[in-house]
Amino acid sequence: MMGSIVSLCKRRGFVFQASDIYGGINGFWDYGPLGVVLKNNIRNLWWHDMVECPPLDKKGNPLRILGLDSSIIQHPSVWEASGHTSSFSDPMVDCKATKIRYRADQLVVYVSKNIWNNGCNIGVITGEKAFAFFEEEEEKVVSSKIKKLCRKNVEDFHRVLFMDIDLSFYKNIVAPDTTEVGTLTAPKAFNLMFETRVGAVVDEKSVAYLRPETAQGIFVNFKNVLDSTKAKIPFGIAQIGKAFRNEVSPRNFIFRSREFEQMELEWFCHKGEAEVWQEFWLEQRLSWWKNLGLDASRINIRRHEQEELAHYARGGGGTRDIEYKFPFSGEGFSELEGIAHRCDYDLAQHQRVSGVRQEYADQAIGAKFIPHVIEPSSGLTRAVLAVLCNAYTEDEAHPSGFFMNFRPQIAPVNVAVLPLQLHEGIGRLAREIFHELRKKYIVTYEDKQSIGKRYAKNDEIGTPYCVTIDFDSLQNMDVTIRDRNTMKQERIGMAYLSERLRGLLW
Ligand code: GAP
Repeated sequence: MMGSIVSLCKRRGFVFQASDIYGGINGFWDYGPLGVVLKNNIRNLWWHDMVECPPLDKKGNPLRILGLDSSIIQHPSVWEASGHTSSFSDPMVDCKATKIRYRADQLVVYVSKNIWNNGCNIGVITGEKAFAFFEEEEEKVVSSKIKKLCRKNVEDFHRVLFMDIDLSFYKNIVAPDTTEVGTLTAPKAFNLMFETRVGAVVDEKSVAYLRPETAQGIFVNFKNVLDSTKAKIPFGIAQIGKAFRNEVSPRNFIFRSREFEQMELEWFCHKGEAEVWQEFWLEQRLSWWKNLGLDASRINIRRHEQEELAHYARGGGGTRDIEYKFPFSGEGFSELEGIAHRCDYDLAQHQRVSGVRQEYADQAIGAKFIPHVIEPSSGLTRAVLAVLCNAYTEDEAHPSGFFMNFRPQIAPVNVAVLPLQLHEGIGRLAREIFHELRKKYIVTYEDKQSIGKRYAKNDEIGTPYCVTIDFDSLQNMDVTIRDRNTMKQERIGMAYLSERLRGLLW
C-alpha cells in the first residue's frame, strides 16, 4: 500500500523527491501543487485551533496562546545551553563494504539460538554468522536472506537489538546490504545538527546550526513575549516552522526526513500544576488528531520508557507519544506527536548560559520562579503523511479502484466544476458557477477528457464534490453534485448550490 501512496503522490503532484532530475537527494522532499495546499490546510487548522481559537480550560475560559516566528539560525550558544551540541545524537554504525550508515537503534540482529543461549561471545570462536536487519524488515525478506546465506530457518535464530550485542561479536555480523561478515563498525554517537557558516570569514567562530527543533526559538524569546504582552501564567507560545536533522537513516517517504516542519507549543505553568496540564494537553491533542480525520482505531498513546526520554524530559511527568499506525508500522504504531514535561530545564539552562534572568514574577503569590513547561510537539510533514495514508481507500466500485477520503476541510480541492459536454452554452454557465464558487472555496474548472476520467482524477486527488453542468442545466437552472465517497448524485437548483456546498463542506 505504501508503494501505491508514494506513486500517487508523484503522479498527482502531492510530493516529489527533491532534486528529482539529478537522481534525488536522500531525506529531502518537495511538496507539489496539491501537497502544498494539503500541508497549508493542516498548518492553518493547527494555528486556528491552538493560537486563534485555543481550547477552553476546565472552567470554560479560553487559554491564552501567543504566536511566534523565530529565526532558523540562532546564536550557537542556544544549542550549547539546550544540550543539543553535546547530547542531540543518534548511535550510528558504518558498513565498511558498502559505505552505508545505519542508525544502530533501528537495527536488530538474528543470532543463532545456540550461540545466544551459550553467551554471544561463543560465536566469535566458532565463527557462526549473525544477520543484521532494519527492525521493520518483513519476515519473508529476513527468512529468505538467512536461508540463502546459511541454510538455516529464521526459527533457529534469536532476535536481539543491535545495541545489546557484545562488541567482540561484530565481526560475525552480516550487515543489511551485504552478504559478507564483519563489515559493520561499533556504534558511535553522531550529532544530528546541520552545521553552516555565518559571514564571510570562515573560522571556528563562524559555525552556526540549522535549528533541529523550533522549540528553542520559543524559549529564547520567553522574556520578550512576556514583557511585550504582559501574559500571565499559565500561557503558551506556539510556532510552526522548518526544522533540520541530519538523520542517519531517513526512511519511510516523508516520515523521517532531514528537512521537515514542526508545530510546537510551549505551555508555561506552575511546577505543581504541570502534570495536570500534561494530561489536559494529551486529551486535547488526541481529539485534534481525530478531528483531522485520522481513524481512532489507528491512533495509540504510549508513555516513554525512562531510558528513551530526551535529555530535557528526564524529570517530572516524562513524555507521552501520540502514535499512528502507518502502513510501515508493522504490528506497532509510529510517533506523530510527543507531549513532554520539559520541567524548567530549558529556561534554567538559558538563564545559566546567557546570564539573563528567565524568571516569572507572580504578583498573586509574590514570588519569582522559572515556570515549568509542557510541550505538545508534532510534525506537520508527518501529519501530511498520516492524512495521506488514512485517506487512501481501496474500493473496486470507484473508477480508479480507490479514492482519497480527505476530510473536506483539508482537501486540497473542495469542488471541481465539470461541464458535461463541450458546448458554448454549457461552458458559459459552468464558468459562471466556477467564478461564483471560487470566491468561497478552492475550486477547479475542468472541461477536458471524458466525465468518467474527470471523476476518476478527482477521486484520486480527494475532491469531495464534483459539480456537473449539462443540457438540462440550461433549461432548468439546476446542476448535479457528485459525492466522492458514495458516488451518489444529487440534483439541485443553481440558486441553492453555494449554500448546499457550505453545508456539505464545513
Ligand atoms: N521539541 C521537541 C521535539 O523536537 P521530537 O520528538 O524530536 O521532539 C517532535 O520531534 C515531532 O517532530 C515528532 O513527533 C515528529 O512528528 C516530528 N519529527 C521529528 N523528527 C522528524 C523527522 N526527521 N522527519 C519528520 N518529522 C520529524
